[in-house]
Amino acid sequence: MTAIRYELIKKDSRTKARVGVLHTPHGDIETPVFMPVGTQATVKSMTPEELKSIGAKIILSNTYHLYLRPGHKLIEKAGGLHKFMNWDRSILTDSGGFQVFSLGSLRKIFDEGVEFRSHIDGSKHFLTPEKVIEIQNALGADIIMSFDECTPYSAEYDYVKKSMDMTIRWAKRGKEVHKNTERQALFGIVQGGIYDDLRKECANTLVEMDFPGYSIGGLSVGESKELMYHVVDVTTEYLPENKPRYLMGVGSPDALIEGVIRGIDMFDCVLPTRIARNGTVFTSKGKLVIRNAQYAEEFLPLDDECNCYTCKNYSRAYIRHLFKANEILAARLATLHNLYFLINLMENLRYAIRQNRLLEFISQFYKKYEEG
Ligand code: GUN
Ligand code: ZN
Repeated sequence: MTAIRYELIKKDSRTKARVGVLHTPHGDIETPVFMPVGTQATVKSMTPEELKSIGAKIILSNTYHLYLRPGHKLIEKAGGLHKFMNWDRSILTDSGGFQVFSLGSLRKIFDEGVEFRSHIDGSKHFLTPEKVIEIQNALGADIIMSFDECTPYSAEYDYVKKSMDMTIRWAKRGKEVHKNTERQALFGIVQGGIYDDLRKECANTLVEMDFPGYSIGGLSVGESKELMYHVVDVTTEYLPENKPRYLMGVGSPDALIEGVIRGIDMFDCVLPTRIARNGTVFTSKGKLVIRNAQYAEEFLPLDDECNCYTCKNYSRAYIRHLFKANEILAARLATLHNLYFLINLMENLRYAIRQNRLLEFISQFYKKYEEG
């Protein structure tokens, strides 16, 4: 038995979109799904009860951060990440392949692994594909990631090819040491930059290795949206229909929609939670910067079509006041609303697929979202 099972429920007739259920040791998740990000074993400012109240079924956390602080051994002692953070639904952990490579001059890549300095205290560390699996085994997430190199957008073909070959070798090494396959599903990560032939080769090679799911990495790193959508299109072409596909680090409303129609099942992004803390919120009529003076006397909800706790109980004027006064509640109310907005969007997309109305739903959504 494997830790997770992807059940394909319905395929859209006009796009590559699909509805499915991901069965995990911590419950069933309808897909396509958006996963809120809880980098440091907390979705910033939200309690697990609040996350449940908006329908979150799975959250993402980070190997890199938890390894450095408080340490995976400590979390293991606590009984694993679920118990440590009081979250009894599903968790996915990223491998650190993205965070470590974002460290720039603080890191050095070898075929064996990556040497880097902690962004917290400057201490020296060496992460290998095997070590990253060991850390994720200790954390105990339902879905875990292979160690990979996320190549920058600027990388030339030859560099991306070599890097992709290394990512494939790392995926193999990680798979060999991952023993807890009954409780934790290890995904392979497709890299290959913006090069169609490399994406194809990477996808085919990983699929041959038979992972329980596949991630698409190396995107949303500065390329245009059109190019990103093209790479997603090319990549999903080579991924098996009976396994989940996860587009890493993507979470704007339009990118979720464009990913879904290209056959993506899972997404994560810090965007909704990060912009919420700066006072930017999604609404059915587009994004809104709630700090702006124009909202000072608007005694209406953030979004009059939203059914979240924030919109049911508080006005734009009040939330703007909280932001101006630097009150903690501002970040909490805006975060709850933004996460609800994306989770609700995914629910609407799944419903539309089931009803054979996906393209109609999408054109209605865009019309309102883009024209205000
Ligand atoms: N998050 C966003 N992009 C990536 C990627 O390419 N690799 C990993 N491991 N995580 C990511
Ligand atoms: Zn709301």
